[in-house]
Amino acid sequence: MKALEGKRAVVTGGARGIGHAIVERLAADGARVSIWDRDPRADIAPAEHATACDVADEAAVAAALADSTKAIGPIDIMVANAGVNGPTKPAWDYSLEDWRRVIDVDLTGVFLTARAVLPGMRARRQGRFVAISSIAGKEGNPNAVAYSAAKAGVIGLTKALAQGVVGDGVLVNCITPAMAETDLLAEMDADYIQAIRDRMPFGRLCTVEEIAAMVAFVVGPECSFTTGMAFDVSGGRASF
Ligand SMILES: NC(=O)c1ccc[n+]([C@@H]2O[C@H](COP(=O)([O-])OP(=O)(O)OC[C@H]3O[C@@H](n4cnc5c(N)ncnc54)[C@H](O)[C@@H]3O)[C@@H](O)[C@H]2O)c1
Repeated sequence: MKALEGKRAVVTGGARGIGHAIVERLAADGARVSIWDRDPRADIAPAEHATACDVADEAAVAAALADSTKAIGPIDIMVANAGVNGPTKPAWDYSLEDWRRVIDVDLTGVFLTARAVLPGMRARRQGRFVAISSIAGKEGNPNAVAYSAAKAGVIGLTKALAQGVVGDGVLVNCITPAMAETDLLAEMDADYIQAIRDRMPFGRLCTVEEIAAMVAFVVGPECSFTTGMAFDVSGGRASF
């Protein structure tokens, strides 16, 4: 029997990049998967279901949960992965509009997703919630202030949520990856990307499959005694 046989999972931002790799991995491990994405693709395989959803929109999140539940059943696993980078510039050049957009998607989106799905998990006394934070949330990045603040917020939110459901059979964790090659890099300038590459002790970026493998562990049966934690996938960059 596969590790996630019989489990129903949602991956936000699952249409491409890290989210898509997570969809592929959870499906390969036996889960039935539904995607919530602002911009879903026509070809959703190996997911079974996909719905258009902006995770920063409260009503859209409620509608997406109803839609996924109807399609695959009550949700056992929620991967809050959808995120944007925003512009790469110092704080004094960063517009309030960009700041609000990044916080809305990367932090409020995780809150809205958790708020929607946790009551059902608590009622069924089982569930796994995992958010995709970032090494930027631990170390900060001078040219991505909103992103760093949002991702640090996700770590704090993870801890608060985990403690709130600790007796309910629901585990809440997050992952803090270093840079991986995805469309997200299109929002960054070349110097910014090179500066991050130069700081990678392993001498390479992270792969999307390495992040998906960590998610599979965290939502799987072998991760049974850890909640409220940030799991590192930074190739030796972070030591905490
Ligand atoms: N790529 C990296 O280097 C890296 C490193 C650490 C953490 N992360 C985080 O991993 C997650 C995925 O990043 P990625 O690199 O795969 O990005 P990506 O741009 O390749 O894919 C992001 C996906 O999320 C969707 N999305 C964006 N905004 C959305 C919204 N408001 N509602 C619903 N869906 C939305 C997009 O349509 C897309 O399918 C993000 O949270 C990102 O911050 C990425």
